[in-house]
This record gives sequence, C-alpha cells and structure tokens, in this order.
Amino acid sequence: MRHRAIATMLDRSGRIQLCAEMHAILARRQLSPNVTRLDVLAPRIAQIRQPGQFVIVRLQENAERIPLTIADADANAGSIALVIQSVGKSTRELVALKPGESISDLVGPLGHPTEMIESGAALCVGGGVGTAVVHPIAQALARRGVRVASIIGGRSREWVVFEEELRRLGPVEVCTDDGSYGRKGFVTDAARQTLDAGGIDIVYAVGPVPMMRAMANLTRSFGVRTIVSLNPVMIDGTGMCGGCRVSVGNETRFACVDGPEFDGHQVNFDELMDRLSMYREFEQQSIACADGDCRLGQRASSS
Ligand code: FAD
Ligand code: FES
Ligand code: MG
Repeated sequence: MRHRAIATMLDRSGRIQLCAEMHAILARRQLSPNVTRLDVLAPRIAQIRQPGQFVIVRLQENAERIPLTIADADANAGSIALVIQSVGKSTRELVALKPGESISDLVGPLGHPTEMIESGAALCVGGGVGTAVVHPIAQALARRGVRVASIIGGRSREWVVFEEELRRLGPVEVCTDDGSYGRKGFVTDAARQTLDAGGIDIVYAVGPVPMMRAMANLTRSFGVRTIVSLNPVMIDGTGMCGGCRVSVGNETRFACVDGPEFDGHQVNFDELMDRLSMYREFEQQSIACADGDCRLGQRASSS
C-alpha cells in the first residue's frame, strides 16, 4: 500500500498511541472529467470544521503543500470530503489515490469560518470546482433557516458538480457555457435576473478569479454584500511565509489567516491574477518532469 501515514495521538490516559493511516482514503468518486471527490479519514477535523475552512495537504514527505477546502464532513464517520480539480502535478498525484491508500499530512481546519447571516435570503454562486467550496456555506446557511438559492456553472453538462447536494438545500439554476445543460451562458447572467427580482440579502461567489470579479462588479451595482473565497498560492498556511498576500480595501492581508473569504467589493482582483501566474513556468516544468520530459537541467547549463 502506498503512502501509509503514521500519526501520534494521546489515548484517554494520556499515553502516546501510534495510529497508522490517519488520513486513509475511504472513498473516491469522479465528479467531472477533471474533478474528483476524495472522502478522507480525519476525525478531529470532521468534528470541528466550519464552512469556509480548508486544510493543507501533503501527499508524502517532501511533496509540496497544497490548500484544499473542506467541501463536506461526516463527524460520525470521521471523514472530510476534498473535491479536487486536477490542474498540475500535486493535484494529479492526489486524485490518483485509491481507497485504502493514504495522505501523509493533512493540517487544519485553517482559515476563518464564513461570515453568516442568521435570517433572510442568500444567493450562492459557484463556478466549476468553486461549487464544491460554496456547498458547505449553503449547508450552514440552510441549517440556520436562511433561504438559499444557488446558481452554478460549468463548461458543459459533465463539468457541473454538486448540483444534487445543493438541490437538497434550495432551488438551483444551472448554467453551461455551451448550453448543453440548463441555461446557456455565464452565472453572472442568471445572477443579474435573480438580483433584479430583489430580496437577496447576501451573495457568496466562489469560482475562477474572473468569475468572482464579474460577480463582485455586478452585485456592487445592486448594493448587495458579496463574499468571495480567494485562492492565492499558499505554502505554510500560518501567516508566516507571506505567499498568500492579497490586497483588500488597499490593505495587505494574508488569505490563510485573514481569509480566505473577503468582501468581494474590496478585493484587488488584478493583483490576485498577476500573483497567481507568477510561478506558471515552474508549474509547467514540474508537470513536464512528472511526464518524463524534464528540461530543468538544460536551462541551467545553457545559461
Ligand atoms: P500547479 O501546476 O502547481 O499549479 C496550477 C495553479 O494552481 C497555479 O497556477 C496556481 O494558480 C495554483 N496553485 C499552485 N500551487 C498552489 C498552492 N500551493 N496554493 C494555492 N494555489 C496554488 N483546488 C481544488 O481543486 N479544490 C479545492 O477545494 C481548493 N480549495 C482551495 C482553497 C484555498 C484556500 C486555496 C488558496 C486554493 C484552493 N484550491 C482548491 C486550489 C489548489 O490549491 C490548487 O489548484 C493546487 O495547489 C494546484 O497544485 P498543482 O501542483 O496540482 O498545480
Ligand atoms: Fe504563508 Fe499564508 S500561506 S502566509
Ligand atoms: Mg504544484
């Protein structure tokens, strides 16, 4: 078995116990062509996690750390759900895990829980894998008695995720870029209609940065408070490295400890886009190396 994890825990009498496979994969489900759900054993996190929080995962020793939102949790089963879009080396390796295999390190829950309203109506908008991030927020709002409506989008039918889960909480409108399912067009088109009809107290929007920026611009004109979940590059997740620096309301904030959710009307999205593309060359090299086409040495020797 790959990636056996050994962790220490105190038993009831305070003795240290060694626990194997603390973060075993309990279930794996393909949600869309490049989005996979892994249910992972993480009992403590499953009990205390709150919507909006995330974990930092390291598949094995020396692997890079990557942040992933806790999309769902089952406290009785001691599991959390990670919904992973396979975009590069680390996410590709993670989604290749099979039930019974394990993740070496998983730290969390990290980040501030989502700002909630206690009554009224919320519009939850998810784009692509962002829908999985919006899901725990919608769940917690519905539990409080807030009326929840969702608008979710994907490239085409097979890219739409978490529709069924959100339908359990309230009405859902699906948008696809190619019109193969639901309404043809962007989530912002559908959101404009909903906002026009009135009665929305708050909007939660999670998805690609251009989508969150477009949603924030739209809701600004309606004067509706909008929470977005930012996805800068994170390394330690503790506020120490500065990697996740973002500008919100002209102030520097660290998304790992001050966020990851912020007032969308205050976020400097242009800067976020720039910072997200800063390491693109290294990310492409790391994929090429994983595919057996490593040219890192060639660049160094030709300079
Ligand atoms: P790479 O090829 O290394 O990078 C591809 C792109 O991913 C980069 O251009 C960059 O935009 C981003 N990225 C790379 N490294 C990091 C890093 N260390 N931290 C953040 N972004 C990075 N993705 C999901 O699929 N599901 C989630 O639930 C999810 N939740 C997130 C929650 C938070 C708070 C943040 C900040 C990000 C979240 N992400 C989530 C994004 C995810 O962390 C990245 O897609 C992942 O780290 C990419 O790693 P890679 O090696 O596969 O890709
Ligand atoms: Fe290092 Fe946030 S990830 S400061
Ligand atoms: Mg990477």
